[in-house]
Amino acid sequence: MKQYTLATPRLGLRNWLPSDLAPFIKMSRDVDVMQFFPKLLDELESKDFIERMQFHFKEYGFCYFAVDELATGKFIGFVGLKHQDFKSNYTPSVDIGWRLMKSAWGKGFATEAAKSCLDYAFSELKLNEVYSFATVNNIGSETVMKKIGMNYIDTFNHPYLNDYPELKACLVYTKNKHE
Ligand SMILES: CC(C)(COP(=O)(O)OP(=O)(O)OC[C@H]1O[C@@H](n2cnc3c(N)ncnc32)[C@H](O)[C@@H]1OP(=O)(O)O)[C@@H](O)C(=O)NCCC(=O)NCCS
Repeated sequence: MKQYTLATPRLGLRNWLPSDLAPFIKMSRDVDVMQFFPKLLDELESKDFIERMQFHFKEYGFCYFAVDELATGKFIGFVGLKHQDFKSNYTPSVDIGWRLMKSAWGKGFATEAAKSCLDYAFSELKLNEVYSFATVNNIGSETVMKKIGMNYIDTFNHPYLNDYPELKACLVYTKNKHE
């Protein structure tokens, strides 16, 4: 029985398991999933990503959680919260982020999982605000931000994306615990 940190009607959110590696490698090689990122991830980069999430979970009790669809028990991607410390007016802070495999898109899963993460951020982690960042053209991601009640505050050049002119302009959305 897998242990979930958060559960929604259709999804379980948890720390990453060794069994997530193979599906995550596959998803990180999908050009549609990775459309708004500088590059596809190779096997080592996917492994490294998972290890960083496990470390973050151990440190703080949360991370970009691995997400299972409860009906099938299958891993479908990640949605969660993560400390960010890149240089900007909006960091250090905790952000909310998501990346799902294509077969899971369009079913409201990102919105459902993200809502529970935001509630958790305010009620359990006692955060005052949560941020979200996405490249300006990533309409899907921006729509999730809006659907979970976040508000647009700015567009800035992401320091990690300086070498990618088509990606570096990023939207900043935020939600305050009192909103
Ligand atoms: C962004 C992403 C997580 C959305 O996942 P999802 O489970 O399909 O999202 P939802 O089903 O909760 O949809 C939320 C809303 O966004 C809309 N939406 C999703 N993708 C869209 C797109 N490409 N264009 C326009 N609207 C889109 C949906 O129609 C839905 O709105 P509706 O309920 O009014 O119809 C998914 O597309 C993804 O993994 N993308 C690749 C990774 C990525 O870019 N991550 C974000 C980096 S900042």
